[in-house]
Amino acid sequence: MKESQIAILTYGSMIGAPVLLALLALLNLSGLGTLYGIYTGLRILLAVDLLLFGAIGIREIYLGKRVNPIKLGIKTAEEQPIRNGEADTLRFRVYRFKEESKRLEESVYDVAVGKYTSVLGALVKIKAEKDPTISMRYSCNMGICGSCGMTVNGKPSLACETNALKSARNGIITIGPMLGHPLLKDLVTDFDDFFGKHESISPHLEREDRKEKYEAPKEYAQTREQIGRFLPYSYCIMCGLCMDACPVVNTNPAFLGPQALSQAYRYYMDSRDQMGERRLQMVNTKDGVWDCEYAGTCSEVCPKGVDPATAIQSMKFEMLVPKFVMKKEGAEMEK
Ligand code: SF4
Ligand code: FES
Repeated sequence: MKESQIAILTYGSMIGAPVLLALLALLNLSGLGTLYGIYTGLRILLAVDLLLFGAIGIREIYLGKRVNPIKLGIKTAEEQPIRNGEADTLRFRVYRFKEESKRLEESVYDVAVGKYTSVLGALVKIKAEKDPTISMRYSCNMGICGSCGMTVNGKPSLACETNALKSARNGIITIGPMLGHPLLKDLVTDFDDFFGKHESISPHLEREDRKEKYEAPKEYAQTREQIGRFLPYSYCIMCGLCMDACPVVNTNPAFLGPQALSQAYRYYMDSRDQMGERRLQMVNTKDGVWDCEYAGTCSEVCPKGVDPATAIQSMKFEMLVPKFVMKKEGAEMEK
């Protein structure tokens, strides 16, 4: 919802409450309270009005804004983007992890950004022009390598795929490292544990005939339907955003997590794979699928639409009601 629409709703509900209360008092005093059910109608309106006002307040607290409806939609001189020819100047509040103090420390930079500047683009500019000591990880600049994961306004995001102007709130963008991974320096996190978990689920096709696997004379033919069962899960770029967003990963480091589990499902669903039930048994553990609480935040933040939450629930279902979710026929080698 736009700031201007929120401002209209806020002002409307603010003004509406005293007006409705005054009308109710007037009806009460005049003794016309029960007239045509107007009294009841006004009370319902007042309840709706107060609920609306409360909901907006909760939303603002959730978004980390000041709970001051008068200021909604109004940018202060200090906070509003400064127009500067073709570009706006935004304030970047970067929370950097300092190994020495083991703390996140804030650095503030004002950066001119254009319509298409990404958060990563702005950070690269900061490093080149303002502060060469800032560290972040990136490579492809196009949402493929998965290395530029960080939090933008508290949400795990790919910096290269996040537009700076669109993410700014009152001219400010808050950047930080992903706290669901061990921190190394500034915005850089350690992915050793992440890749270890990925590796633990045997992320490759297994065939009973090892010789055939390595010296296959032809391709394994698959129907469109067979491909469709695992394809959405194969788009994972291992960016780790889902792990950062998962509340269970953040409280139980032993939990395999949405990335590894979604990949276990991806190979389980692939008709070329012959590991079958053994794949399910690998994740049929307390720290496997059964620690997932189905918060759904993993699927919410995934930049590739992988939907780990559904993958995990599907595996749970398959364990409880074997063959309910899928019936996969083994892929045959092309004749
Ligand atoms: S499932 Fe999505 S969010 Fe998680 S690592 Fe893969 S691409 Fe990133
Ligand atoms: S730099 Fe590769 S995904 Fe962002």
